Parts: sequence; structure tokens; C-alpha cells
Amino acid sequence: MISNFSFYLPTKAYFGKGQIATLATAIPKTARILLTYGGGSIKKNGVFEQVQQALQAHFYIEFGGIEANPEYETIMKAVELVRKEKLDFILAVGGGSVLDGSKFIAVAVPFDGEPWDIPYKKAPISTALPIGCVLTLPATGSEMNHRAVVSRRATQDKVSLYSDLIRPQFAILDPTTTFSLPVRQTANGVVDAFVHTLEQYATYPVNGKIQDRFAEGVLLTLLEDGPKLLDNPMDYDARANVMWAATQGLNDILSVGVPGDWSSHAIGHELTAVYGLDHAQTLAIIVPALFTHQIENKRDKLTQMAQRVFNYQGDSSQAAEFAVQKTREFFEQMGLKTRFSDLGIDDSQFPLVLQKLAEHRPQAIGEHKNIDNYVAKQILYMAL
Ligand code: NZQ
Ligand code: ZN
Repeated sequence: MISNFSFYLPTKAYFGKGQIATLATAIPKTARILLTYGGGSIKKNGVFEQVQQALQAHFYIEFGGIEANPEYETIMKAVELVRKEKLDFILAVGGGSVLDGSKFIAVAVPFDGEPWDIPYKKAPISTALPIGCVLTLPATGSEMNHRAVVSRRATQDKVSLYSDLIRPQFAILDPTTTFSLPVRQTANGVVDAFVHTLEQYATYPVNGKIQDRFAEGVLLTLLEDGPKLLDNPMDYDARANVMWAATQGLNDILSVGVPGDWSSHAIGHELTAVYGLDHAQTLAIIVPALFTHQIENKRDKLTQMAQRVFNYQGDSSQAAEFAVQKTREFFEQMGLKTRFSDLGIDDSQFPLVLQKLAEHRPQAIGEHKNIDNYVAKQILYMAL
């Protein structure tokens, strides 16, 4: 049975070519803006010029240098800047890391206390600065969701915060901004969005027909158009479909009333913190192993996935295994590795991974809350 739910999605999307110009009207003229960005891609691909053009009548201060897997030490510098300059609006221009770092800034600025407590101890928050964004990397869904993931390299922590207060007011989604993505980041984005969808779909059936069919639509779109981008990065339609698919993959529309898994993400975050692997790369390693380990618990939905997404027509008792194998092949087709050994990683750091997982996730994880530290260890070994 579908669980009761409430659903409200206040982020306004401006989708398509040239939409960066709408910044001129999307942000109040009176706003004092912090314009955040990453390592500089926006200054090479024409995105920054378009933002500058649109913000001619606005006051803004730039803050660049937010790294992939946004670092607490870096974004705290932005928090100081916002407080000092009395800025009151955050415009994030970049991928999920710039967005998530900006979300952290938005809650940290008015927070009375140590801001790290917000993601690390889940300290309650009651207010946040408003955020808007120009997305340049379709992957995380951060442009339309209430999550942010931040890292602290000194302590090897990668932790999340959740609040409706950090949903962006608007998201500018211009697929042409993604033409300049390196192949690795394009592929990462497709795989991340695919796994977000699986985390909400490949659980157990509750007869959520809309949720299931929306999820299958997202999966099919990523399967069809993701690989096209490897050969033709300038394919506008494929860029557009992947961008919208990634947004739908994690803006909560797929998760209403149905069970969620999220154990691959929980383990994956520890792998990024310990090995420095890209977020999507961690998922490409963990998902096939975890789904194989949990195949009986996930059999009904994986069978449905095999039949509806991978067009499997064979013996239904083998359909779930087929879905897992096709998922692994898709990740590999996108150029990601699906085993630790493919990356030269052995089991020597597994104790640290498991220790950090226990620290961050003391309760068992997964849709059945059955993946404890012991099971997680088995999954890590299956992924070798
Ligand atoms: O920093 P710049 O120079 O902009 O370069 C970035 C970065 O090096 C580059 N890039 C982005 N757009 C580009 C571009 N290069 C050329 N052209 C463009 N148009 O791509 C690199 C990676 O960017 P990043 O923002 O780190 O990637 P992604 O969007 O995959 O974000 C990953 C982060 O988001 C978190 C991940 O854990 C990770 O920290 N996630 C956030 C979620 C959320 N908020 O809901 C959910 C996800 O599951 C995920 O955990
Ligand atoms: Zn993800």
C-alpha cells in the first residue's frame, strides 16, 4: 500500500537555451547576492558571461573555488564573507558540489552555533538565506531538492543535511551549459541520476503505479540518451533529456509514498571520503554488489525492471539477476568501473570505511533496515 504523503515542490524551473537571461528578473533587484562557483569551468564555457550580463542591474560578490565534494573549510570562508558583507541571497552557478556548498552557506550564515553540527549532528535549523541556481552538471537533483552533502577532509567525513529551507527558489536549466562537460562528468551524472532512481524504485512493491512508471521513464531516458552523449556531446536533445531526467530523478516526485533504499549512497559517501573517488564511481561499484546481496529482498521490483526497462522476455525466475547484470553493463558502457579491483583498490582500508559508516549511520540501512555493519562488510568484499 502507498504510504500517506504530502508533496510540495516550490522550485521554479526555467528550462532551455538562453534561460540564464531570466536571472535579471528571477532575483529581486534589491538583493545583495553571493555568486558561488567552482574551480572555474564557468569562466571558460561562456556561462559566467551570461550570468554577468543578466545581473547588470544587481549587486553581487563572487566566491569561487568550491571543490568537487564541497569542503567545509572552503565554504566556511564564504559564510564569513556573507556575514561581513551582509549579503542576503545566494546564487549557485555550477554542479551539485557548488549547489550543496551554497545550501550549507545558506543555513550556516544565520545559524547560532557550530555550523558543522548541522550535517554532522543533524542540529535543527529554523532559517536559511534564499538560494537560486544555474545548473551546469545534471546529476544530483540538488537544483530542486532539499538535500546537501558536505565533506570535511581532515576527519574523512562526508555527511548530509536535509531541510525544505534549502530548496532553491528557482533552477535555471540550460542544456547548452553542459556541452563543455568532460566525458567523465557527463558519465558520472548519468550514472548518479540512474542510481537515484533505483534507490527509490528497486525496493519492494507497494503498487505505486505513477511512482513506478515515472521512475521507469527516467531510467529508460538515461539508458537511451546517456550513451549518445559519449559519441556526440553537442546533441542538444540528448543533453536536454538527460538534464530533465536527472532533475526528476531526485526532486522527490519519485519517492512520495513508496519505500526508499539509499544504502548504496550511504556506503558510497564513505568511499569518497576514504578513497577520494567520484560520487558516481562509488555507486557504480556498490550498486551491483549490494543488489546481488539483497536480490531476494528486491526480486519483485528487479523483475519488473527487467521486463519493463530492459525488455526481458525470458524465465521470470532469472529476471532480477538479468536486471542487475544489465545495470552493471550500463555503468561500464558509460565508462565507469564496477569493481574495486578495476581501480587497483584492495581491502586494506575497508575497516576504516566500515568504522566511518558506523559513525555516520549507527542504525542499519536499506529499505528493510537490514544492512548493518556486518552486511556492509560482506557487500564491500563482493565488490572487490
Ligand atoms: O568546479 P568546476 O570548475 O565548475 O568543474 C566541475 C567539477 O570539476 C565540473 N563541471 C561542472 N559543470 C561543468 C563542469 N566542467 C565543464 N563544463 C561544465 N558545464 O565537473 C566537476 C564535478 O562537479 P560536481 O559539482 O562535483 O559534480 P556533481 O554535480 O556530480 O556533484 C557531486 C556532489 O554532489 C553530491 C555528491 O556527493 C558530491 O559531493 N550529491 C548531492 C546530492 C544532492 N544534493 O541531492 C545527491 C547526490 O546523491 C550526491 O550525493
Ligand atoms: Zn547520488
